[in-house]
Amino acid sequence: MFLHTGEAGLLNWLLHLLDLERPHSMPSLKGKLHRETANYFTVIHDLASEADTWKSRPAWLEFAPNNICNLRCIMCGQADGLPVQRMERETAAELLDQVLPHTSLLTPSALSEPMLADIDLILDKCEQHDVFLNFHTNATLLDGECFRKLAPRLHKLWISLDSPVPDVFEKIRAGASFEKVVQNVREILPIAVELNVPVGFVAVFMRENAAHMDQLVDLIADLGGTEARSDLRLQAMLDNAVSCPDSDPFGHFDTTDLAGFLDAAVERARIRGISFLADLPEPHRRSETVSQPRVRGIAADLLVRLIEATQEMYPGFCHMAATYTKIEPDGEVYPCCRAPVELRMGNIKDQSFEEIWNGDRYQAFRRRMFAKDYPDTCRTCSVLTLNPHFRATPEAPYAPGGPSSVPGTGGRSI
Ligand SMILES: C[S@@+](CC[C@H](N)C(=O)[O-])C[C@H]1O[C@@H](n2cnc3c(N)ncnc32)[C@H](O)[C@@H]1O
Ligand code: SF4
Repeated sequence: MFLHTGEAGLLNWLLHLLDLERPHSMPSLKGKLHRETANYFTVIHDLASEADTWKSRPAWLEFAPNNICNLRCIMCGQADGLPVQRMERETAAELLDQVLPHTSLLTPSALSEPMLADIDLILDKCEQHDVFLNFHTNATLLDGECFRKLAPRLHKLWISLDSPVPDVFEKIRAGASFEKVVQNVREILPIAVELNVPVGFVAVFMRENAAHMDQLVDLIADLGGTEARSDLRLQAMLDNAVSCPDSDPFGHFDTTDLAGFLDAAVERARIRGISFLADLPEPHRRSETVSQPRVRGIAADLLVRLIEATQEMYPGFCHMAATYTKIEPDGEVYPCCRAPVELRMGNIKDQSFEEIWNGDRYQAFRRRMFAKDYPDTCRTCSVLTLNPHFRATPEAPYAPGGPSSVPGTGGRSI
């Protein structure tokens, strides 16, 4: 029987669940897989019962033990000089041991470069708890050899590549060498094909690069993206850096110009076999799937379906608030990647994660979500309001131009 890639992935996953294809020398992971799947069902239960205290635990964690980056990209908060935060290794290890037993995915960054985030600890803990990485990198430090080391634990690698024009790239991604990044990508993509690891590319849509998106598609294809079945995702620029006020493409180009740039990119994507998503507010959104994405056949693939299901069945409750947690290197816990002060849920230096997860603040936050009495940040957040199943209320007017989901997770690109 012919199986589509997605079906083959599901089949792999079921085999994995049953441990049929696992060599006898490897420990059984049934316990973890059972916990992960039971956790997905429990999320639905918690939503359906409108509970204040939740039996489910976050399926997706964003955490890095530091917020260090080697670049100062002009649109990123790092450009403004973030104070460095570091969590003690022992504290980070304890925290990961508390949270990861139920987690499927870990995004190991804190508005920072994960290759600088004690990657050995991250890999050890992912191995120990059978967790996979949703890994966003600037690819300055990730060559083919490093990629091989990460590959067994990657759910998907996302490479930030904002421009195919060397000068523009180096202006946007201040501190990076275009030549070095391109060389690294050239090494990574054939290995991704060999090991069946999904690799996608992310570009922030800015005044500086808007006109070059068709060439960016060609560059990715030339570097091996077609064989790797890579995709390119354009994401809206969040207002993250004080130093970057002039880079908004929507204030600079008119709708016709922007449509021309995006349609040219779609055209090249079709020709070169690179899937393309312009995750931008209408009328600028474009979505062109030209090849079946690679799938790992792991529980995290089902997490994607869980997120879609919660969006459809419980559109009033932010899907990120239901399945995600962000912990900063200073220990602060938030229910989403945007991490506004308003949504601070506690600090793991003061309480265990368990105490925070069902503590007063999380309970009050959930009550407000169920009542659609949204905190200010949520009212205009696109993670909530751009869900096509979401219905606007006077408290949460539909805000297609509102702030997009946050980059640390690539807008939760999965
Ligand atoms: C914050 S970075 C962290 C991971 C890694 N250092 C990197 O650059 O990929 C994650 C993603 O956010 C994107 N990003 C940075 N500033 C942004 C902004 N103001 N709006 C939207 N995305 C942004 C980056 O380009 C990158 O793709
Ligand atoms: S976008 Fe990534 S690479 Fe650039 S400064 Fe921010 S964290 Fe560093």
